[in-house]
Amino acid sequence: MKFLITGGAGFIGSAVIRHIVINTQDEVVNLDKLTYAGNLESLSEVSNCERYAFEQVDICDRAEVDRVLAQHQPDAIMHLAAESHVDRSIDGPADFIETNIVGTYTLLEAARSYFQSLDADRKANFRFHHISTDEVYGDLPHPSKTPNAEEYLFTEQTSYAPSSPYSASKASSDHLVRAWQRTYGLPTLVTNCSNNYGPYHFPEKLIPLVILNALEGKPLPVYGKGEQVRDWLHVEDHARALYQVVTQGRIGETYNIGGHNEKQNLEVVHTICDILQELHPQERSYRDLITFVKDRPGHDMRYAIDASKIQKELGWAPEETFETGIRKTVQWYLENQAWCQRVQDGSYKRERLGATV
Ligand SMILES: NC(=O)c1ccc[n+]([C@@H]2O[C@H](COP(=O)([O-])OP(=O)(O)OC[C@H]3O[C@@H](n4cnc5c(N)ncnc54)[C@H](O)[C@@H]3O)[C@@H](O)[C@H]2O)c1
Repeated sequence: MKFLITGGAGFIGSAVIRHIVINTQDEVVNLDKLTYAGNLESLSEVSNCERYAFEQVDICDRAEVDRVLAQHQPDAIMHLAAESHVDRSIDGPADFIETNIVGTYTLLEAARSYFQSLDADRKANFRFHHISTDEVYGDLPHPSKTPNAEEYLFTEQTSYAPSSPYSASKASSDHLVRAWQRTYGLPTLVTNCSNNYGPYHFPEKLIPLVILNALEGKPLPVYGKGEQVRDWLHVEDHARALYQVVTQGRIGETYNIGGHNEKQNLEVVHTICDILQELHPQERSYRDLITFVKDRPGHDMRYAIDASKIQKELGWAPEETFETGIRKTVQWYLENQAWCQRVQDGSYKRERLGATV
């Protein structure tokens, strides 16, 4: 099979490409604009393989997307390209509307026209897989306020109630994808996943930011009281899930993907500090660097996924627990600090973003 993967130079896209090229005989075309978040270095393990090709293209550029589809003739599209950082969406929503909504619309129209040009056999096997987030569902009851909070989980039937410009733009794109299936018969699938962590994560996100700041003795910013709960999933477990969905999932279906690893942010930061103390000891406790800062406006308090559908239908389950995955991740950052330095161009210095209302 040949996959066109949008956003393949990003955190999750690069994990999907490494997974496919290393573990299967399938071919991959990576279509990526290379924004600040896209780094081809994350693909150095596979970029010399003859089953891998790269196209630097913006998904909003219809003519270029058409050219790539006609030239490479993919059997499936996995759409990951997006603006992905909530704090940036608070400071400047325009890029999120453009790439996540208009870009997805442009890609859908290009895919529809390409799909219509395929012969019956190739049509029958074609898939458009849209990769989305659990943030579209808004937030769930928090244990500090609701005694039986753990009984509430996001299912594929949960109503959409996005809180941030980022999640609202992703919700819009999910609706467009489902409409293109219902109205035009484009064979689409949607997955909504919880927070990912792991190697090659751009250092603006909580886990890499905390590791790198701790190593440099800088403050470890914790929003509000650090009570926000996220359901952490190792990015390589997500990559396996996405491959299973695009190859075995049922057309028109949505699959929620989660790690069964609910943790409060402060607990995550404590865990990282304690692992660093063990792997990279220093006299002063890393925990002393924790600094509580003003909370993110509109911050969702809890996300947690019911992943029983993908488990029952496709037999997928995460292989990493948070404890095994976070240890490997801290180790990876310790060993790959040069990657971290190189991906942060002069414009980003791990400063606080998205604090203004
Ligand atoms: N990171 C998470 O925890 C998480 C969880 C669930 C879902 N998701 C979704 O998964 C997808 C990938 O997330 P990520 O964390 O890897 O994001 P990322 O920010 O690391 O990577 C995004 C990639 O998209 C590319 N891109 C951005 N705008 C583009 C455009 N207009 N045209 C072409 N390429 C463009 C960037 O260059 C980058 O390589 C996103 O759609 C995101 O909403 C992320």
